[in-house]
Amino acid sequence: MNTAKLHANVRVIGYLGRALSFELSAVQQYMSHAALCEMWGLTEASRRWRQEAAEETQHAERIVQRMLALDVAPNASQLQPVRVGRTLLELVAHNLRMETDIVALYRDATVTCLRGGDRDNAAFFERLLDEERAHAQELQGWYESLTGWSGA
Ligand SMILES: [Fe+2]
Ligand SMILES: [Fe+2]
Repeated sequence: MNTAKLHANVRVIGYLGRALSFELSAVQQYMSHAALCEMWGLTEASRRWRQEAAEETQHAERIVQRMLALDVAPNASQLQPVRVGRTLLELVAHNLRMETDIVALYRDATVTCLRGGDRDNAAFFERLLDEERAHAQELQGWYESLTGWSGA
């Protein structure tokens, strides 16, 4: 492997490692929010968070598969602490922020891969980017429905 290719791979592996930490942190946070909402008697909100946790678990699985295909042992070393709250609105706000951060990570990873001519990994990150953008949009809608914010 030439030096340029090796450096590109090191960068991709770095993004995959950060992505895995993000996704598993998201699983932990969504699971916790599902449990909190259940305790508060908010059954529908609890169901939605549980569904989000399942989607993030699938993302983590895709990342693990890609790391193994690149001969890298998955190691999510930077799990973020769960952000809790006292109201559903606080939980939605925390998750909206979390999804916005992960959108930024995948955008950065996609652009970096494209610049390096690595279309395969760019497509991998771009698919995740699209799905996280959809999560962020759903949460934005939920946030607005809770606050009555019209965007005006
Ligand atoms: Fe995700
Ligand atoms: Fe997400």
